[in-house]
Amino acid sequence: MVNVTKFIDEAVEKIRAAAGDEKVVMALSGGVDSSVCAELAKRAIGTNLMPIYVDTGLMRKGESERICELFCDINLTMVDAGDEFFSALEGVTDPEEKRKIIGEKFIRIFEREAKKTGAKYLLQGTIYPDRIESEGGIKSHHNVGGMPVHIDFSGIIEPLEDLYKDEVRDVAGGLGLPREIQHRMPFPGPGLAVRVLGEITPEKVGIIREANAIVEQELVEQYTPWQCLAALIGLGTGVKGDVRLHGWIVAVRAVHSRDAMTADPIELPWKTLHQIGSRITSEIPGVARVVYDITPKPPATIEYE
Ligand code: XMP
Repeated sequence: MVNVTKFIDEAVEKIRAAAGDEKVVMALSGGVDSSVCAELAKRAIGTNLMPIYVDTGLMRKGESERICELFCDINLTMVDAGDEFFSALEGVTDPEEKRKIIGEKFIRIFEREAKKTGAKYLLQGTIYPDRIESEGGIKSHHNVGGMPVHIDFSGIIEPLEDLYKDEVRDVAGGLGLPREIQHRMPFPGPGLAVRVLGEITPEKVGIIREANAIVEQELVEQYTPWQCLAALIGLGTGVKGDVRLHGWIVAVRAVHSRDAMTADPIELPWKTLHQIGSRITSEIPGVARVVYDITPKPPATIEYE
């Protein structure tokens, strides 16, 4: 376990030494990793920190508005890039290709914003499991393996690269960040894109955004999962009124884990599953079926792509 006070002092020093008097951009997603990074960097370099929140159009319900509220005191730039992401993803079905496109777009947007501000460095909340999984070739996490080769920054600063998630949460506590951030479920950098199989369209993302909101409302408080989510996994036959029709199949996943390297599905009560199923099919038009994923990791990953 990390010594929180010592870690904070050293990380602040490390960021200060790496950045010097230069401006630093960072992707603030509102997750625990990027929030801890932002707080450390604020302490290290003050107003030279230029946090940027990119609304990719792939965020969860209400997320952009909430981040604005939470971080309005730190000079946050909001970039509305949904259209850019959706057009770059048009027609793309391969999971790795999607990740690479999203990762590349992210970096290009930072470069664009950095140019406006004269920032020379990029601060990233990469943590230890991200590095290991990318190095091991399991998949390219958008903030690591998906990184384009030509990066228009003098350097990248990654103060959390040796920490596990639970250690990052301890550091968040040590920094006095709100509980809501400290205990936030991980959310992948590519956002809801890894929860929609096949081509990404605004329509599919809209459906899965609503389904994720329902799953979180029903499970987060009561079961404190490591992660819970909904994914759009295909089309299947359903019936509305007297008519058979094709509708979306939504998979629900809720897992306990320590570090995301392995995970176990939560044994949810039938009543809870039933409630989730009936809410998703009745509140979201076009959904025909809801299934619960009972696969541990391994063999399955936590996300669907
Ligand atoms: P998997 O699906 O590999 O996920 O079992 C392990 C953990 O990592 C998150 N995840 C990602 N995070 N970029 C990220 O920043 C990604 O491309 C990515 N893919 C998965 C996932 O939500 C889980 O917490």
